[in-house]
Amino acid sequence: MSLSIVIGSQWGDEGKGRIVDLLSSQSDFVARFSGGDNAGHTVTVGDQVFKLHTIPSGIVHKHTIAILGGGMVINPFTFLDEVQQLKEAGVDTSPNRLLISHAAHLITPAHRLLDQAQDAARGKQAIGTTGRGIGPAYVDKAARRGIRARDILDPASFPQKVSACYETINRSLVQLFGQNPINVEEMSAEFITVANKLAPHICDCGALLRGALTDGSSVLAEGAQGTLLDIDHGTYPFVTSSCTTAPGVLSGLGLGIRTVDRVIGVTKAFQTRVGSGPFPTELEGEAANHLRGSGANPWDEFGTTTGRPRRVGWLDAVLLRYAIEVNGITELCITKADVLSGLASLEIASAYDLNGEQIKSLPFGPESGDLEAAAPICEELPGWNEDISQIKTWAELPRQAQGYIETIEALSGVPVKMISVGPERSQYISR
Ligand code: GDP
Ligand code: IMO
Ligand code: MG
Repeated sequence: MSLSIVIGSQWGDEGKGRIVDLLSSQSDFVARFSGGDNAGHTVTVGDQVFKLHTIPSGIVHKHTIAILGGGMVINPFTFLDEVQQLKEAGVDTSPNRLLISHAAHLITPAHRLLDQAQDAARGKQAIGTTGRGIGPAYVDKAARRGIRARDILDPASFPQKVSACYETINRSLVQLFGQNPINVEEMSAEFITVANKLAPHICDCGALLRGALTDGSSVLAEGAQGTLLDIDHGTYPFVTSSCTTAPGVLSGLGLGIRTVDRVIGVTKAFQTRVGSGPFPTELEGEAANHLRGSGANPWDEFGTTTGRPRRVGWLDAVLLRYAIEVNGITELCITKADVLSGLASLEIASAYDLNGEQIKSLPFGPESGDLEAAAPICEELPGWNEDISQIKTWAELPRQAQGYIETIEALSGVPVKMISVGPERSQYISR
């Protein structure tokens, strides 16, 4: 049995797609287990850049089988757009290597409208969702009125399920948010036509993966979002609506508890966040501009899904330790180390001051109230000027860069096994 899990240890956009691409060279299956097209995962191979929202990043390799697991919420329109983009780039997306779990739920355009109306109505308390309908689709799932991928395969009941979903959302749009009603008949018909195209990809992915693991195949689980966006363990209520942490892999893919080998925590060398919510080490000014970039480089900190400028700050080891604990992270992979070049000094938060008391972990985890009151206590480290983006070995790294990585290991208690120094597949250092 060999199940490896890639998890974002921060607020998403840590570079999971890029790391999944690297690790999937050694994997037979690559599977997304939660979330939907709120994710934006970037894979760069030579000149080719893939931006994937729904389909696992590991599909870029020729040998992998890509799975959209049962814990996901899938927008059929996005799925088909991605299939088209991949096909144009020469990637095989045929149903024998791109599979959707029968248990995954579907996102309709009505869910998106409701998500946008709800978040706008929150005014100053807005979560800043991606507007992709993620929350409403998971609400329907929990309310036991969701539409599952499997429903597509039953033409006798599927149309009725879709129109019931549209009618329920219509009532909310009109009665709660004062919007014009949507045309249920027209929108349902369009949705059904599009969703039917997913039919050849639908199967019992849980059974497939369990069988594959028993037969000795390797499975790589691709996390979406990040630990601090987890519905239970994140900075609630400024979170997404799914389980983004490692335990979600088992329920999201339908696997038993004994299958896990490695949990790889992808950690950006600094902290970023899109959307609202607390961010103790957030920066403004020159250092922030350096970390964010101007937008001139494709990797600058502007959202892959929404294009919004990301909030940036120093690495937060208090939150990293928490992520290591709730996920059972066995190794870290530090990304975007190259972006730190040129900063005279760097900081890492090692503790917080909470109401005059120095603490190394939060009393109620990173729930938003406590985190808002926490002032980071930072360690200062020397920076480096050298461009490290072409470096391939640990020994070649400037001493200060080695020191930065060693400090992360000391503060987190977990080994850093990989350092990414650029977006391209070959730009990394293995340790
Ligand atoms: P994900 O959501 O965790 O997969 O991350 P995103 O793809 O949303 O954002 C990460 C961005 O950083 C993308 O533009 C990547 O191409 C880029 N990237 C990943 N690793 C590195 C790295 O080590 N250095 C630089 N400069 N860019 C990186
Ligand atoms: P990847 O997989 C960064 C954030 C949104 C918002 C909150 C809730 O690319 O790392 P939602 O639309 O999920 O209801 O929004 O979560 N968010 C992400 N931020 N990366 C992501 O995915 C995200 N997916 C959701 O910005 O703050
Ligand atoms: Mg992203």
